[in-house]
Amino acid sequence: MKCGAVIVAAGCGERLKAAKPKAFVMLGTKPLFQYSLDIFLAHPQINEVVLAVPEEEVSSFSKTPYKIVKGGATRQESVTCGLAALSPDCEAVLVHDAARPFVNAAILDRLIASLAQKKSCIAAWPVSDTLKASQEGVITHTIDRSSLWAAQTPQAFPVAILKQALSKAAKENFVGTDEASLVERLGVKVHLVIGDAGNIKVTTPEDWTLAEAVLKRPL
Ligand code: C5P
Repeated sequence: MKCGAVIVAAGCGERLKAAKPKAFVMLGTKPLFQYSLDIFLAHPQINEVVLAVPEEEVSSFSKTPYKIVKGGATRQESVTCGLAALSPDCEAVLVHDAARPFVNAAILDRLIASLAQKKSCIAAWPVSDTLKASQEGVITHTIDRSSLWAAQTPQAFPVAILKQALSKAAKENFVGTDEASLVERLGVKVHLVIGDAGNIKVTTPEDWTLAEAVLKRPL
């Protein structure tokens, strides 16, 4: 099975309030996007990698062992641009947020094992907080968390399925916050694969401080 990866790094990262697009801000010794990119490039079962970046960053890359594409106005459009750049013989794809720098090879192994059985799947982690539904600041009820998972990336699909899901969503003006939500709308089963509690998404300045602390912790 030929397997590609699309890493989306084309967001502006408004909530981080940095001078540059989030994925291009230095975290320790390298830009945020480089952490997950290095994991994918080093994985023996990932055959090619496409990185979607903001238009103004395209020219900052010269010769690379991965493809660079200009991203779109939404995350979903950036995924569509990345997918179009994959080789036509790529059968499966892992989509990853550059904003999750601590993805690891074991997560990729688990997703690829599931993909090999033609299963769509996402990395996820069981919800540990007690969840409350509310109206006007008052709790209406407590939600049973036993069946709830927090979706992470990578999210992995047969390429044909993801392309179909993206084109249906575009036609119907549906914008999802992840790829699984688009594939679910096709009626295709999406399986949960154990992610990692450390596979955090860096969104706010507080997340950034946490990511720096993770990097500095002794191994
Ligand atoms: O904004 P948020 O943190 O939810 O974005 C998740 C990921 O999607 C980030 O890695 C971001 O760079 C990417 N993205 C993108 N193109 C957009 C918006 C977000 O590649 N237009």
